[in-house]
Amino acid sequence: GYDARPFVPAEADLGELREAAAGCHGCPLYREATQTVFGAGNPSARVVLVGEQPGDVEDRRGLPFVGPAGRVLTRALEEAGIDPDDSYITNAVKHFKFVQQGRGKRRIHKAPSLREMAACRPWLAEELRLIAPEVVVALGATAGKSLLGPDFRVTRERGTPLPLAPLDGAREPTDVVCVATIHPSAVLRADDRDAVYAGLVSDLRVVAGALR
Ligand code: URA
Ligand code: SF4
Repeated sequence: GYDARPFVPAEADLGELREAAAGCHGCPLYREATQTVFGAGNPSARVVLVGEQPGDVEDRRGLPFVGPAGRVLTRALEEAGIDPDDSYITNAVKHFKFVQQGRGKRRIHKAPSLREMAACRPWLAEELRLIAPEVVVALGATAGKSLLGPDFRVTRERGTPLPLAPLDGAREPTDVVCVATIHPSAVLRADDRDAVYAGLVSDLRVVAGALR
C-alpha cells in the first residue's frame, strides 16, 4: 500500500528529513507534481501550522503557503498576535494533487484521499516530533483528519483546544494541544469574506491563548 515510511530516515534532523522527502515515492502523487513541498519555518517554533497540500504556486516554488492562501494566513496570524517567526508551516500531504482542466491546462486542486493522507503522515509525525511545538493548528478538514482522525469535522471542532494523540500510534498521550480552524483559502472563496476571515482570526487567538 501507499506508505512514506520506507523513505523516512531514522534519527534524522529536520534538514536531513527535508532532503529525504524530496525523493519520496510513498504514494503516486509524486509522479505528476513538480516537487516535494516540505515544511518551512522556525525549527524551534512553539506553533506548527498544518495545511492540506501545496497549491499550484507552492508546487512550482517548492515552499508551503507562498500563494494567495498564504497571504491571508500571514495577515491573520499577525492580527491574532502570533509571531510568524515563532511558527513552522507544513502540509498534511507534501505533493500537489490536481486535475488539468480545459485547453489552457489550468491545474485545479483536488483533495487528497484518506490513503494519501495516511501515506504521507510519517513526514508530518517526524516534523512534529523534532519541532515539539506547544500548539499544532489544523487548517481545514484535511489537516484535521490527518491530525485528529477521519471523524474530524471543522464546524464541530474548530476554535477549541483539543489534546493531540501521537500520530505514529504510540501509546502515551502527548501534552501538545491542537486547535483546528478553517483553511485560509475558504476566506478567498467566501461571499462574506470579512466574516469568514474574522472567524479565522478568532480561532487563531485561541492558539495564541494556549501558548505557555
Ligand atoms: N494550501 C495549503 O493547504 N497548503 C499550501 O501550502 C498552500 C495552499
Ligand atoms: Fe511521499 Fe507524501 Fe509525496 Fe505521497 S504525497 S509521494 S507520501 S511525500
